[in-house]
Amino acid sequence: MALRRSVIRFISSKRPSPAVYRTCGFSTQASKDESSNKTKQTHFGFQSVDEEEKWKKVHEVFETVAEKYDVMNDAMSLGIHRLWKDIFMQRLAPTHGTKLLDVAGGTGDISFRYINYLRNLGPPPEGKHSSVTVCDINQAMLDVGKVRAQRQGFTREATGVDIDWLCGDAEKLTVPDESYTAYTIAFGIRNCTHIDKVLEEAYRVLTPGGRFMCLEFSQLPNNTMQWLYDQYSFQVIPVLGQLIAGQWKPYQYLVESIRQFPDQEKFKAMIEDAGFRQVRYENLTFGVCAIHSGFKI
Ligand SMILES: C[S@@+](CC[C@H](N)C(=O)[O-])C[C@H]1O[C@@H](n2cnc3c(N)ncnc32)[C@H](O)[C@@H]1O
Repeated sequence: MALRRSVIRFISSKRPSPAVYRTCGFSTQASKDESSNKTKQTHFGFQSVDEEEKWKKVHEVFETVAEKYDVMNDAMSLGIHRLWKDIFMQRLAPTHGTKLLDVAGGTGDISFRYINYLRNLGPPPEGKHSSVTVCDINQAMLDVGKVRAQRQGFTREATGVDIDWLCGDAEKLTVPDESYTAYTIAFGIRNCTHIDKVLEEAYRVLTPGGRFMCLEFSQLPNNTMQWLYDQYSFQVIPVLGQLIAGQWKPYQYLVESIRQFPDQEKFKAMIEDAGFRQVRYENLTFGVCAIHSGFKI
């Protein structure tokens, strides 16, 4: 504890350089609490902040970590996030002709798996063209993704699958109604201020029969396991963030935001409230994270 406190003091003494936001050219409107005319409060990790401030802070987190995002994912999860994402793609099981919208797509991990999955199916039949749109609110994350796509050969020319990069907000997507057959969001929805709006938008942009899939950190089934996981999360992850990425606070936020996200059953109910049917979930690594899935019927 003493070590942790001195590391925190050391870091707090070093003011982070001001983030230069590269948004998609829009800002968010914080909603007002009608009874008091005050801006509505929400949580940013364990802090209570107004909604607009949360939006800015989340933006700052991913602006700050973008360059180190991929290496930190490997370090924090000991590489297990790769397996979770592989399983996620196997559950989606896209076919030739799928049109995927990967929201909060960041640096492209899910979209690259999608393209690989289709490649492994063999050449597409005539007229069955597939595409993916990687949508993220943070241009810095998308920029890292675009460089990775070029470097790793995930281009239309190399794979035959269209890949587009779209800067946009999951809560108000700028894509037409019923324009995608699949929607994915991996480790993104807990960062959004209004989960219900994200789900509404997912429902709007999917074609009838389209599938919603979410991969997100979740809750462990018993207190002992949760306690062990908390020890690792709160004591180790921010330290790794400081050592590898030179940043403590974004990783502390990451851990806190996981604790604030609704558990498996509550989130399932929210997906049903948005109109999805056949909603189910599957725990991965005892519930460290979960895959939720539903159909627009
Ligand atoms: C933890 S990263 C996940 C990236 C990627 N899906 C993956 O699994 O590696 C979370 C992403 O959500 C994005 N994000 C946060 N709020 C968002 C919003 N309202 N709309 C779209 N993207 C958002 C962040 O910019 C960040 O790239």
